[in-house]
Amino acid sequence: MSVHISAKKGEIAKTVLMPGDPLRAQYIADNYLTDVTMVSKTRNIYYFTGKFKGKEISVGASGMGFPSIGIYSYELFTEYDVDTIIRIGTCGAYTTDLQLFDILNVDKAASESTYAKFAWGIEDEAIANQGNAFDKINETAKELNLATKAVNIHSSDIFYRKDPAVPAIAQKYNCPAVEMEAFALFANAQYLGKNAATILTVSDIIPTREFISADQREQALRTMMELSLETALK
Ligand code: HPA
Repeated sequence: MSVHISAKKGEIAKTVLMPGDPLRAQYIADNYLTDVTMVSKTRNIYYFTGKFKGKEISVGASGMGFPSIGIYSYELFTEYDVDTIIRIGTCGAYTTDLQLFDILNVDKAASESTYAKFAWGIEDEAIANQGNAFDKINETAKELNLATKAVNIHSSDIFYRKDPAVPAIAQKYNCPAVEMEAFALFANAQYLGKNAATILTVSDIIPTREFISADQREQALRTMMELSLETALK
């Protein structure tokens, strides 16, 4: 057990797929994994371990924002010996150069957050994905004939804001999209010498206010789930 995860040591696989939402973790476990065990449900942040095409994989939620993913990823890396975390989430696009359903493989996450500085003394405003998971995602996407875009993204503490302008940091690092977790995940992985990547599906286009409807969401997310599962086999 760790402070926020009730799984026993050894009950979590070396690779963890991490959606934000516990029900998405459950969906992956129900639809893709065999021999599944629910290994933690503390705070309703479900973790499952099972097999995908014979390989042991765990899937569990991060919750929303840096504090939440910071806690879960740190405990997985340090208490459960996890090697690789692949976040699978959604993002808002700052530009109509991106379209709904586009799949992004995050190169760097740029943030105004002080998380990395105060947690680990990492002063960088932009932190790269860590290790080889990013390359494996690109390779796997090619094999599956899936178009993905490698981009920098803005990781923000803020979902609702007064000013509709694209924040300065997103402009500075050429970030066409925004989410709320990758920066803290990459900071933890950099400090601990672990692997971390983030795959995002564009769920809303901020300037036009288009968004993926509830019934389109499942299929859109399935594509990203399958990409992450196939990547985890490598
Ligand atoms: N902002 C931040 N995070 C998000 C968004 C957004 O517009 N859409 C999906 N995740």
